[in-house]
Amino acid sequence: MSAATRIRVEVGRTAYDVRIGQGLLAQTGQALRELGAEGRIPVVTDEHVAPLHLGPVAAALRSAGLEPCAIVLPAGEASKSFRMLETLVGRLLDAGVTRDTPVVALGGGVVGDLAGFAAAIVKRGLPLVQVPTTLLAMVDSSVGGKTAIDMPQGKNLVGAFHQPALVLADVDTLATLPARERRAGYAEVVKYGLMADAAFFAWLETHGARVLGGEPAALVHAIATGVAMKAAVVARDPLERTGERMLLNLGHTFGHALEAEAGFGPDLLHGEAVAIGMAQAFRFSVRRGLAPAADAARVEAHLAAAGLPVRRPRPADRLVAHMAHDKKRGAGGLPLILVRGIGRAFVARDVPLEEVRAFLAEEEVFA
Ligand code: NAD
Ligand code: GLY
Repeated sequence: MSAATRIRVEVGRTAYDVRIGQGLLAQTGQALRELGAEGRIPVVTDEHVAPLHLGPVAAALRSAGLEPCAIVLPAGEASKSFRMLETLVGRLLDAGVTRDTPVVALGGGVVGDLAGFAAAIVKRGLPLVQVPTTLLAMVDSSVGGKTAIDMPQGKNLVGAFHQPALVLADVDTLATLPARERRAGYAEVVKYGLMADAAFFAWLETHGARVLGGEPAALVHAIATGVAMKAAVVARDPLERTGERMLLNLGHTFGHALEAEAGFGPDLLHGEAVAIGMAQAFRFSVRRGLAPAADAARVEAHLAAAGLPVRRPRPADRLVAHMAHDKKRGAGGLPLILVRGIGRAFVARDVPLEEVRAFLAEEEVFA
């Protein structure tokens, strides 16, 4: 029996389903029909995903009487650019989209963020169907409506909130995902347990190897648990105004500084940076007397067992400089997601940069 589940995301007056399971690519056409789609449907994907997973999506669209129009972009973060956005917008307009034409984003977070932003702005907004094919995109980026491109000044600095009309997460697609990418996505799975669900973290300690090994039932359970938590947070704070949605950034401020230091290149994947950042958030919280050292040790042990890095000493001054430029910085100090223990994250609003610098300088001794 194949594992499958459905989670409803409610955001203001709109709501959508996130379907998580096996064999869902074959249901794309029918699902689009149920959304009222007709005629030509743009399917945005990248050059790695196209040869692997575009075929079944195109076939499913055709068998539902729809005409797929594939738009294949270069793979990688560099595609989240103004130049690529312009290219994509042109291709969508050339495809003859109307305001009712859904855009299908088939791929990882890069495709989802770029196609999502294009869908948000073309003709003042087209419906978006996310078909995530990485673990990171399934458990995080395809849900919640954040779309963006990068600028020379930093990542994700230009974008829009644009909720999808549907998310189809077919875990069968993860069979072709490189192991390193799967591990990086797993860091975002662990994030949910560390953030607000100690029982889920304990489940991952026992069953994480099944998730990483690609066992469908374990994948569906892990993704669904994360998505349900994200759905609840997004429903309460869709635009990241009250602060609750910021909890989803556990490990991201530390991690983002490391990514910036690494030049956002293949040397350090986003999820790897988040793994180190979460371990740092725990170590920093222990240093502040907020969390038990035993919890930080448990977190490090689990991440390391999953093959993820937990330390990456770099010059404190350089990391703090990256953090000071972070788009989420407040007026009085740095907002940081800290923890009182596993499953007990909270927003610390004004953490003095000097304290963060001192902590990072201590971490340098591991270099
Ligand atoms: P990605 O989209 O670059 O995908 C990683 C690599 O895997 C790429 O080379 C891709 O071509 C390849 N790939 C994708 N699916 C595959 C499959 N099934 N089989 C084989 N190869 C496959 O990276 P990602 O980790 O999915 O996403 C990272 C992006 O997501 C970043 O740009 C980040 O800013 C963004 N993000 C957005 C949000 C949000 O809320 N919008 C949240 C987290 C991350
Ligand atoms: N990935 C963080 C968010 O969606 O808010």
